[in-house]
Amino acid sequence: MADSIIELKNVSTVYEGERVPAIRDIDLTIESGEFVAIIGPNGAGKTTLLETINGLLPHTRGQVRVLGQDVARFGTQLRSQIGYVPQEFQFDETTPVLVRDVVLMGRYGRIGLFRRPTAEDYAQVQEALELLGLAELAERPLGKLSGGQQQKVLLARALAKEPKILLLDEPFSHLDCAAREEVAELITRWHRERSLTVLLVLHDLEAIPQSCHRVVLLNGGRIRHDGARERVVRAFTLAHRE
Ligand SMILES: Nc1ncnc2c1ncn2[C@@H]1O[C@H](COP(=O)(O)OP(=O)(O)O)[C@@H](O)[C@H]1O
Ligand SMILES: [Mg+2]
Repeated sequence: MADSIIELKNVSTVYEGERVPAIRDIDLTIESGEFVAIIGPNGAGKTTLLETINGLLPHTRGQVRVLGQDVARFGTQLRSQIGYVPQEFQFDETTPVLVRDVVLMGRYGRIGLFRRPTAEDYAQVQEALELLGLAELAERPLGKLSGGQQQKVLLARALAKEPKILLLDEPFSHLDCAAREEVAELITRWHRERSLTVLLVLHDLEAIPQSCHRVVLLNGGRIRHDGARERVVRAFTLAHRE
């Protein structure tokens, strides 16, 4: 379809030095403005799928198009329109960079290499900090924050980018229940108000926000189900009861 924002055709990705593909034969089409949950057990290929979509990981077979362009050729350009919150992050205590500067990094793609941030850039950074309840931590070194606070900083950086696509890899993993609900609500609102396309990776069915209507179930590197939330959740539950 002409306005598919993400399109994978017969895609497989093999890690360097490995023989078995981590994801294989993936056919997946996401329309602009969709909110899709990607679920599956550990090792299913969820992280590999997200990193194949944003081109951080080169795919071995098939075609990946994002915003109508080939990720293999235009990865850097495309990533400036994609907000990505990785699953793995660890900033040790000596990481001196301040929270505000990390969030400002989300603006770099717009600022360009040799220009200075504008008032608009600083305003977007401030808004993202406030939305995530980080305003008071803005001048603190990232390395001195808790894992949950660091995860929120990465979310703020992704939002400050004003991306067309948001790829979130288990973004609730370090958050407590209350923060989890707040962040889910925030993502839902951004999706609705800004017609943002969101791919949300989770391993926990319970955590799928209500507003997320489509669920893709991955297992063993393949898509096992893709469809309406209720249907996929039922299939997943049945498979795990056996
Ligand atoms: N850097 C890597 N090198 C080799 N194999 C990897 C690497 N990262 C992940 N894998 C393998 O790829 C498969 C999918 O992993 P991953 O995408 O991280 O799954 P998930 O995010 O669903 O837990 C697993 O079998 C995992 O062991
Ligand atoms: Mg993962």
